Amino acid sequence: MSETLEIPGRGKRCSALRSLLQLRAFRKELGTWARKREAEHGAPVFFAHLGMPSIVIADAVSAGFVYAAPKDLCDRLDRVGFGPSALRPRIIGPIRPALVTHGELNVAKRRLIDSVLDGARGRFDSSLETAFGEIIADWTSRDRIPLQEVTGVGGKISARWLLGVDVDAQDAGRWPVSSFSPITTSWLLNQVLSLVARPSRDDRDRSDRILEAARRSPYLDEVHRIGRETGMSAEEALWQVIFLAIFNSKAIGLLTAAALAQLSLAPRWAEAIRDELGGTELKPADMDRFGILHKVYLECGRLFSAPKILYREALRDFDLPCGDGHTYRILNGDTLLLSMRSIHYDRRVFSSPNTFDPNRFDDPEVLRHLFLFGPHDKPYRCAGDDQGYSAVFSKYVLARLLQGSDWEVAPRPTVSADADFSPEDTALVSFRPRA
Ligand code: HEM
Repeated sequence: MSETLEIPGRGKRCSALRSLLQLRAFRKELGTWARKREAEHGAPVFFAHLGMPSIVIADAVSAGFVYAAPKDLCDRLDRVGFGPSALRPRIIGPIRPALVTHGELNVAKRRLIDSVLDGARGRFDSSLETAFGEIIADWTSRDRIPLQEVTGVGGKISARWLLGVDVDAQDAGRWPVSSFSPITTSWLLNQVLSLVARPSRDDRDRSDRILEAARRSPYLDEVHRIGRETGMSAEEALWQVIFLAIFNSKAIGLLTAAALAQLSLAPRWAEAIRDELGGTELKPADMDRFGILHKVYLECGRLFSAPKILYREALRDFDLPCGDGHTYRILNGDTLLLSMRSIHYDRRVFSSPNTFDPNRFDDPEVLRHLFLFGPHDKPYRCAGDDQGYSAVFSKYVLARLLQGSDWEVAPRPTVSADADFSPEDTALVSFRPRA
């Protein structure tokens, strides 16, 4: 057994302001930034200051280890947000959502969510059907639908499903983005940031509109009852469900938008799905029957995984096994930054990682390194997928679009590990029912 190595770059100092600027560069170049640093450091795990001092994990094997670690070895950070991105109470309400909750605190939030998701099971199929129909009717009546707006479909449909209310797709797409503000390890810089990085008027109005719609929910009594049973106030329970519906479900819209950009560049896969679906009347429960749809969906999930960055904190010293064959020393208190766009592009386990190749999932071994829904097991596995919704939901939206409609994507997009798709104004044009 080889000796345990020190994390490359550990001990490098950097001012909070500089690390914030580096974080901006990192966020802009999520995939290539880590690859360049990996080449510099000669290892796929290394130390960096990205808004906060972190050990960046850009490797599928070490990510698997961290994800499988029990809560007493490695836990989420004790802060409301993702590392140096804090969630704004003015936008998301005075809550701590399950997605960013650590330790035992997570248990109560998760109980509420599991109960809400379980209670909404009976209306899943019909809500998906209704909300999807509304979206298609709207899109068919318009000249162009920006892919940025498509990112809101998950939230729009989930708001119908979990709250029984209609929210605007643009609001649903934008709300999660406007939920964050930067936060650093410097008290002084945080004071400055709290003044200059306040949510805009538009962002506050959007949040108010969403809350107002949620207050009209026909399921309000049910939400309050579940809240009481899990020890939450009526207000908190409602915000938790809003967050669940619009923030957690955004991954579905992100995946759909990126998949549509990707399929426009690989039309034979879109045709293969259409042939596979034929004229079958699609029901959410049938979504696992379609093998080509499934592997296209997995490959889009690998290329465009969301959340893009996740954080954990080491609660003890331990040895981290890594895909380069070495073991690295992690110290109690280290912040671990899981760079999902690097992990899912790790060439040691995904050959030609920049190539869109759904056939790679014909080898079931490859799935071991795909963390689409976070850990493969509890704790902190995606609650939506745990209850059998997330994958079904995403595949249903993609399948219905491909089966029932035609469109062009313009301008011709570029897809990459850095940005799901660019340019930002890429849109669906001439959206119409399929002949
Ligand atoms: C394609 C769609 C989705 C993807 C890719 C996705 C991905 C993820 C990932 C990666 C995590 C783990 C975060 C971590 O490791 O810290 C997570 C957690 C979570 N997801 Fe999903 N998700 C999706 C859809 C949904 C839906 C539809 C819901 C519910 C409506 C949902 C609810 C949750 C919740 C509540 C958590 C937090 C679980 C906890 O902390 O105990 N997700 N999701």
